[in-house]
Amino acid sequence: MSIQITHLLVFLSIAIAVVSAFSPADHYLIDCGTAESTTTVDLDHRSFTGDGSSSILSATRSVASRNSNANPNLSPIYHTARVFMKPSDYKFKIKEKGTHLVRIHFQRFNFQNIGSVCHDQFHVSANGYVLLHNFSAPKRNPSIKDFLISIDDDELVIRFIPVDKSSFAFVNAIEVISAPKDLIPDNQSDGVNMKHAFETVYRINVGGVKVTPFNDSLWRNWVPDDEFLKSGDDSVKSYSKIHFDGRIQYHLGGASREVGPDNVYNSARIVSSLNDSIPKLNITWLFPVKNGFSYLVRLHFCDIASISLGMIYFNVYLNGNLAYENLDLSTLANYKLASPFYADFVVDSEKFSGVIRVDIGPSSLSMPHAVDGILNGLEIWKMDNSMKSLDGEVFADQLESKNRSNGQMGRLLSLTAAVCLLAIAFLVMRRKTEAKHSTGWSQLPVDMPEIDLKSIHQKSTGVNV
Ligand SMILES: *[C@@H]1O[C@H](CO)[C@@H](O)[C@H](O)[C@H]1NC(C)=O
Ligand SMILES: *[C@@H]1O[C@H](CO)[C@@H](O)[C@H](O)[C@H]1NC(C)=O
Ligand SMILES: *[C@@H]1O[C@H](CO)[C@@H](O)[C@H](O)[C@H]1NC(C)=O
Ligand SMILES: *[C@@H]1O[C@H](CO)[C@@H](O)[C@H](O)[C@H]1NC(C)=O
Ligand SMILES: *[C@@H]1O[C@H](CO)[C@@H](O)[C@H](O)[C@H]1NC(C)=O
Repeated sequence: MSIQITHLLVFLSIAIAVVSAFSPADHYLIDCGTAESTTTVDLDHRSFTGDGSSSILSATRSVASRNSNANPNLSPIYHTARVFMKPSDYKFKIKEKGTHLVRIHFQRFNFQNIGSVCHDQFHVSANGYVLLHNFSAPKRNPSIKDFLISIDDDELVIRFIPVDKSSFAFVNAIEVISAPKDLIPDNQSDGVNMKHAFETVYRINVGGVKVTPFNDSLWRNWVPDDEFLKSGDDSVKSYSKIHFDGRIQYHLGGASREVGPDNVYNSARIVSSLNDSIPKLNITWLFPVKNGFSYLVRLHFCDIASISLGMIYFNVYLNGNLAYENLDLSTLANYKLASPFYADFVVDSEKFSGVIRVDIGPSSLSMPHAVDGILNGLEIWKMDNSMKSLDGEVFADQLESKNRSNGQMGRLLSLTAAVCLLAIAFLVMRRKTEAKHSTGWSQLPVDMPEIDLKSIHQKSTGVNV
């Protein structure tokens, strides 16, 4: 009995140590379409707060909608949504500038009380970055869009913009979380620095099972690699999977638990030589991607397969080019087995068409009777283009031009009104000056230029781009 309690205590203190290792300065979990006082606990035991009448939300025409026949197996954050008929913002105060994880959840259901607008098609922007363009949520399963955004301001503004008058925008939940400093180093020599926005396109647990947010300190999903293996040849059978039951040895300078959790590093696929000959064989994965963007590819390695150090050497190829020759995992992992390491590569938009191909295979230093290639995990992020867009050739400023077309008249009218008011003010001013009274009129002209400047500013940005 007492032994059991000690075990429990030890386990608890380890668990607490692990949890407290990462405590983000900014940490917002918002369940959209519910009252502000509501707390929704998702399947991973995280508490989301409601957005209704909160200062975070600024929307002129929005409707909170609840799915009356929601699938009970779905996380409760997908049981409600907020639907927007006009461009609307969520504004998050940012305590600590720098990279943030931004996750936006979409699960469409039959929205009630939204009037004549018929379909969801919308844009999403965030602090000048285009995140989604002409987006329509897939019908069946929830769609989670996962971004890393560099924030230089005291505020993050996520804007939902219906494409036109007949469409609406919606959202079920939003997460905004400060990223750990080592997730994307600020200062990498290979041209990736965090003045970027990234969208996660693939997050793969090679040779392993699906890892859910519950088992990931940054609440990420990692999926198995099976469907991305190049098939069609017999070699697929020899792409053996391995699993490791020991402890992953995280070390300073290598990958941290936030970079990749234990469940990613404790499984892998390997090329190995069982006899005197080194197999002539690569393991090959194919990842379809959209053209026109550059991609950051992160490969996660952890030698959970070798029986001793200094025996594992292999080559890494990206799109058929040698990306890393004679990768010496023992040295890179600080002469420890089961110690994680990752390598980042940028794949240029011009250098491929539609697919990123990753090969792992023996090198000239590979040894017989040893492991001659390993990969534990892989991530691919889309990088924003020169227009700061992750979706389409468009600037964030341009997204509202369509939606504005009916607002244009109103703006024109208010501009005319402003001019008239100025003229009146001028007349009043002249009269009063003539009458040698200097009180009463001065407020008016001071207020007017503000409206004026705003509309001129918005117009000129529209013309410039
Ligand atoms: C976005 O939608 C608009 C209107 O539906 C269309 O004119 C435009 O070509 C679309 N753009 C892209 C990049 O799909
Ligand atoms: C970035 O890295 C270079 C070379 O390692 C270093 O000289 C420079 O001080 C670094 N800059 C920042 C902002 O850390
Ligand atoms: C978390 O990981 C452990 C160990 O791999 C596994 O047994 C458990 O099922 C996982 N839990 C969830 C919710 O994925
Ligand atoms: C080594 O093993 C592989 C497959 O296990 C086999 O195809 C190959 O012929 C073997 N080579 C020798 C020299 O025995
Ligand atoms: C492994 O892949 C690279 C790049 O695609 C290729 O050049 C090499 O010939 C392949 N090796 C084998 C044994 O297929």
